[in-house]
Amino acid sequence: MSTNLADAVRPDPIYESAAAGKAEPACYRHLQTKIARKSATVAVCGMGYVGLPLSRAITEQGFPVIGLDIDGEKVDKLNAGHSYIRHIPPTTIQAMLKTGRFRASSDFGQIANTDVVTVCVPTPLNRYREPDLSYVTATAKVIASHARPGQLIILESTTYPGTTVEILGPIFSESGLTPGQDIFLAFSPEREDPGNPDYHTTTIPKIVGGQGPFALELAAAFYRSFIKTVIPVSSPSTAEAVKLTENIFRAVNIALVNELKVIYSKMGIDIWEVINAAKTKPFGFMPFYPGPGLGGHCIPIDPFYLTWKAREFDITTRFIELAGQINAAMPQYVITRLIDELDRRFRKGLNGARILVLGLAYKKNVDDMRESPTLKLMELLEARRARVDYFDPYIPEIPQTREHPEFAGRTSIAFDPSALAQYDAALISTDHDNVDYHMLVDRSRLVIDARNACERFGVMSEKVAKA
Ligand SMILES: NC(=O)c1ccc[n+]([C@@H]2O[C@H](COP(=O)([O-])OP(=O)(O)OC[C@H]3O[C@@H](n4cnc5c(N)ncnc54)[C@H](O)[C@@H]3O)[C@@H](O)[C@H]2O)c1
Repeated sequence: MSTNLADAVRPDPIYESAAAGKAEPACYRHLQTKIARKSATVAVCGMGYVGLPLSRAITEQGFPVIGLDIDGEKVDKLNAGHSYIRHIPPTTIQAMLKTGRFRASSDFGQIANTDVVTVCVPTPLNRYREPDLSYVTATAKVIASHARPGQLIILESTTYPGTTVEILGPIFSESGLTPGQDIFLAFSPEREDPGNPDYHTTTIPKIVGGQGPFALELAAAFYRSFIKTVIPVSSPSTAEAVKLTENIFRAVNIALVNELKVIYSKMGIDIWEVINAAKTKPFGFMPFYPGPGLGGHCIPIDPFYLTWKAREFDITTRFIELAGQINAAMPQYVITRLIDELDRRFRKGLNGARILVLGLAYKKNVDDMRESPTLKLMELLEARRARVDYFDPYIPEIPQTREHPEFAGRTSIAFDPSALAQYDAALISTDHDNVDYHMLVDRSRLVIDARNACERFGVMSEKVAKA
């Protein structure tokens, strides 16, 4: 984004009203000028699906960037010009290195020499399905131990409202840096959609909330220098709530279409036909699609961050819980459809049946299998003593996962006609675009399609049963 200095230091109206009558902290103006000149050095903590594209966008706009990660292997790969994320090619990393402005490191001591620090580390749930902020607090403590007055610290990890002010704030205060005076804290949720070719870090509007007007202004100015549209909100908690609201909206609407799928299926009505027709309404309807269950780092997890925080206010998040129940029942629904079809067509049970599951990634065209419902499908199938193989063009081998360590090391089958013919049924769990669905249907005895992939690719056959 080309911003001149005058534009870059022009304050937001929301900042102007909040800052009125407040004394400007001594270090504020210096940092503001550095951001405007793009001479501010930026540290990005967490070189994952969020932090790496963010680093790229900041580097491309002319800032010096240090990509920090505790995973030394990732650091080495980046510095050697390699990528470990499928949709970010090595040429992108090489171009970042070539600018001379980007390097990766595990030396967090370098934070002392930076001006802006962003935090993009994981925020999972623990085994009791409660927020696990250990990555965020560990990172914040390390940053605080190297921090100095005049730095802007921005949390990007998804979390419950209150995290920035209630958790991060005290960590910095305890190290002698008062938020709003010595150090500036902000929250800006990441809205990355990996694999989506239509939107990139710089074109996805960015929400920003600062702890106090000066933090807000600095964070908004920082993002405005490389993101097209920046939307300031009145506090970090509001910004945290915006992110959760977006993902809760998705989780609840997906649950709704999943419930409708089950109902309409009994009535002989095709949910995908219904949605495709309903979405022709030019207003008041937004399409969501059913599937074999929720997956990914966000939708199955983030809503429960609010559920946990709401308990502090004696509130039960009924919509979220209900959506969670419906979505969590989907893998079993899909397996039941498979059992019914095997029984009806071949008088065969699952015990001993050979099943090929297609797609291990949690969504199409990515190599990310975190929380993938396919693992649950495999677990349910094997519990019924089916013999299960999988095919995924992007995941040749199943890595170690916390919930399903039993599948680690299994490898994808080769997708060829003779292999496909060996199975009693194929089950489409993830609808990658580069799969030959014509060949799949042609060679399979039965295809259970939980994504409507076959119809989408123009394959109409009696062998296909939607689930
Ligand atoms: N992946 C997405 O599409 C997406 C979208 C929006 C928001 N988010 C949110 O962004 C955050 C990060 O998600 P992600 O998908 O990039 O995760 P990720 O697992 O891909 O990357 C996180 C990185 O942080 C590193 N890390 C862990 N602890 C660290 C520490 N103490 N210091 C430095 N690095 C550390 C890990 O080694 C890893 O490389 C999460 O809160 C997630 O909910 C993710």
